[in-house]
Amino acid sequence: MRAVELLRAGGLVAVPTETVYGLAANAFDAKAVMRIFEVKGRPASNPVIVHVASLETAKQCVRKWSERAERLASRFWPGPLTLVLGRSERIPDVVTAGGPTVGIRWPAQPLTEQLIKMCGFPLAAPSANISSRVSPTRPEHVIAQMEGLIDAILMAGPCPIGLESTVVDLTSEVVKVLRPGAIGPQDIAEVLGEPVELSDIAVRKEDVEGPLRSPGLLNRHYAPKGSLYLLRWSRAEELEQRLALLGVALEKVVILRHSGVPVPKQAGLVIQMPFDPLEYGAQLYEQLHRCDEAGFEVIVAELVPADLRWLAIRDRLRRAAVFADENDVRDT
Ligand code: TXA
Ligand code: MG
Repeated sequence: MRAVELLRAGGLVAVPTETVYGLAANAFDAKAVMRIFEVKGRPASNPVIVHVASLETAKQCVRKWSERAERLASRFWPGPLTLVLGRSERIPDVVTAGGPTVGIRWPAQPLTEQLIKMCGFPLAAPSANISSRVSPTRPEHVIAQMEGLIDAILMAGPCPIGLESTVVDLTSEVVKVLRPGAIGPQDIAEVLGEPVELSDIAVRKEDVEGPLRSPGLLNRHYAPKGSLYLLRWSRAEELEQRLALLGVALEKVVILRHSGVPVPKQAGLVIQMPFDPLEYGAQLYEQLHRCDEAGFEVIVAELVPADLRWLAIRDRLRRAAVFADENDVRDT
């Protein structure tokens, strides 16, 4: 495969995974990984995930392969779960942002698994987008953002999961979900047989449903070019009034809704999203890219339900938003 030669020579290759497209380099080659940071405009303080295609390679990257890691890997790998563990000496500083830990995952994408195996070294790969923008879920999205900046793309279809992996920290006494994803905290708690913490919230095996405290300050990330407002409304006129207060012309607005809530007739575009978290997640970035391409200046997304199954979607929407209504109120 040409991609193998390019990676061996220190090149950058965009690769498909089941979550989003990644921008890969040889994880053992500090110079190659540095190029990833340059191309993405990524702050050097943000570590990148190392992708493996065997447990043997995973073990080469860490100081100690723990019992927890063994359990989670045997249940969820290959799959959308990144394990944060103490790093080994083989991992260069640039990969871990100088920190003592490394994030590792085995992606479930046959082409990329084969590529990693043929390389014989693991691949450091963040999502293949310019820093803070929406992650690519199709090769076209990668080309739009990265053409001319990278050496090749390994082409495949759309990413079936469409949201980045769950990142779980196994280095402290209490296991902590650092980034929610398709694998939920309750799935992890169940496999480990111990409570799992979610930011400042302890999530136990039994807590499959329930309200969560809202994550404090909005840290804009995963963001489309247009301004995204995450809102709750029940009548079309109510939304019209909110948008009028914001000084936004309705024709310039795209609305993403998943329920049957009424929307103003004059809205520029209404996208009906699936009322199912897995299907919604698979489509979200694709729709945000579509809004960017069409040049919509304002995107209104309907608040999604406050239960754990929607956690990853709520997280991404909140981070993409310039403004969010509170959404941690239990339905009455
Ligand atoms: O699904 C995914 O994870 C995709 C595909 C390509 O695998 N990758 C991805 O990478 O989303 P990136 O760089 O866009 O996001 C990596 C996340 C960041 O939030 C980063 O801070 C966190 O993982 N991370 C990586 N290494 C870490 C570490 N050692 N400790 C804590 N967080 C880490
Ligand atoms: Mg990213």
